[in-house]
Amino acid sequence: MQVWDPDRYAAHARFVSDLGAPVIELLEPQPGERVLDLGCGDGALTEKLVDAGCRVVAVDSSPEQVRAARGRGPAARVADAPALGFDGEVDPDLMKAVLHWIRDPDAALAAIHRALAPGGRLVAEFGGHGCVASIRAAFGEVLAGRDIDAEILNPWYFPTAEEYRARLDANGFDVDSIRLFPRPTPLPSDLTDWLETFAQPYLAAVPKRDRRAILNQMRERLEPVLRTPDGDWFADYVRLRFAAARRD
Ligand code: BEZ
Repeated sequence: MQVWDPDRYAAHARFVSDLGAPVIELLEPQPGERVLDLGCGDGALTEKLVDAGCRVVAVDSSPEQVRAARGRGPAARVADAPALGFDGEVDPDLMKAVLHWIRDPDAALAAIHRALAPGGRLVAEFGGHGCVASIRAAFGEVLAGRDIDAEILNPWYFPTAEEYRARLDANGFDVDSIRLFPRPTPLPSDLTDWLETFAQPYLAAVPKRDRRAILNQMRERLEPVLRTPDGDWFADYVRLRFAAARRD
């Protein structure tokens, strides 16, 4: 189970919204448009949409993050993507770093299709095929030492561009562009902070008293792969970025 702590997020995951500019550019939000910011997190990107003159509906599945987003001003509400409950009410939909957390991608796309007005755009960026491969492999090795199968704990869905294009098409979207690209991402602090922020489902598989040992083992294994000669950590992100529009 993944729990979002806004303070931890602000300290160790601010890069998620800081790296959001290209997605906003791709969205080209227009003043007055009713934009759905799905997976708004702590609202840092939501603020940029408000500044662009949009009327923003911000939604996140985490009550803690929604509270943090409201603290920045925009109205935000708690909901899961597959149970959105909108009906043709929004013009474009922006999703940043959300879709890889949704294990039923078709249910999410069906709900987004319902939420958008005909012709409404869906612009998103999320983890794609191969994302954090070295981190996943290291969890596989470290947890195997405790007879735990890390693959069944994997909370993420990282599709190829071909797979996701087909899903978008099958769910009633025309794809304007879709691109998979590696984006090694500098981390603001130690790798163990990233693991504690983003990889909780793996850590929750071991008793609390053993988690520090697991984090240290992960760090040792990944130091030769994910640490620069200057001592900075990065994560081996691969992104899938696309722009699509509701077909009818
Ligand atoms: C992300 O938020 O972009 C992300 C989270 C977990 C794994 C990979 C990417």
